[in-house]
Amino acid sequence: MTKNTEVANYKIEQLEQATTDDNFCSGYFAPSNIALVKYWGKKAGTQIPANPSVSITLDKAKTKIKMQAQARKERDQDNWISLTFEGKPMPAFIPKLTKFFENVEEYLPALRNFHFSLETSNTFPHSAGIASSASSMSALACGLVDFEQWLIGEGYNEDKRMLRSSFFARLGSGSACRSIYAQAASWGASGTEAGEDFGGSDLVAHQVEVHPDLVGLHDTILIVDAGEKKVSSRSGHGLMKDHPFAEARFEQARQNWKYTIQWLKEGQWDYLGAVIEEEAMALHAMMMTSRPGYILMAPQTVEAIQKLRAFRYKTGVPLYFTLDAGPNLHLLYPPSAREEAMAFIENELVAQLEDAKILDDCMGKGPQKVQ
Ligand code: PMV
Repeated sequence: MTKNTEVANYKIEQLEQATTDDNFCSGYFAPSNIALVKYWGKKAGTQIPANPSVSITLDKAKTKIKMQAQARKERDQDNWISLTFEGKPMPAFIPKLTKFFENVEEYLPALRNFHFSLETSNTFPHSAGIASSASSMSALACGLVDFEQWLIGEGYNEDKRMLRSSFFARLGSGSACRSIYAQAASWGASGTEAGEDFGGSDLVAHQVEVHPDLVGLHDTILIVDAGEKKVSSRSGHGLMKDHPFAEARFEQARQNWKYTIQWLKEGQWDYLGAVIEEEAMALHAMMMTSRPGYILMAPQTVEAIQKLRAFRYKTGVPLYFTLDAGPNLHLLYPPSAREEAMAFIENELVAQLEDAKILDDCMGKGPQKVQ
């Protein structure tokens, strides 16, 4: 375990019985992220990835969470968390949040001595088919790290604060631990059985260096189906357990991770583009070939991929796609290709595919405190 990881894993034991009469208050905007190398499948433990992943942090798709904590007398009483989403009480979110708080409690036992009131909202429409677990869990994690600092009366330095936030975020939703960092982040140990090891941790994400040409990378999200996820990522990860292609997939991801880290740093966008598309297809191939198998792409997804590739081969515009666990395409391109890429997206994709719309996003700066 590295020194950094020890800090993340630290248990604030001395505060197990701590309470205070003061109220705590904090709030964060935190972004979603899109993986270039996909995390799909877990090892034993709480959100321990089967392979390393890399993502870019988005700018506009964010969750805002205002957190208030108040000491309470009855440590185990039911009423631990209350929540509003876009101004309305949302009891449906409480079980997932309670599970998250229970996971964090293991490392911060005093958490249960407080009642938490959360006011949450998203900057992207609820029905945009954009997963909000990475943005919401990372916003909460940042708030909980502020809470921890307030409780122990110690201000963490920036490195420790980020690491601790990433560690907490992972306990809520694996991929959320990458949303703590600006630009791009990597999560997961890279070691192979063959003995190659390029670092990385299963417990926390780290920032990844991005070449100046790729800073501000665009992610124009083509929404072809705005519905809820048809299969949860939790069940999808679970289906990798006995998947006949699991080991080959994890090895492919480890190799792609190594190249992605290198090419992001060197600004080799065309090399990266090929790997990113392979990763998207590998993710969906795993879903299609699991037992039971399922298809999350829609007919328009495939149509858009074919149009995009034909456009790229014909014009050389460096526009590539990736997919999350759903049918919507993330169209990725560097700032230098903005004009040509947008003209194609608007005229050939949005205008010609049934019910398609876009959500225009790009590489962002990571979580920000709500003033
Ligand atoms: O963090 P989870 O459990 O929601 O899983 C995320 C899985 C993918 O979004 C498909 C890939 C990834 O690495 O973000």
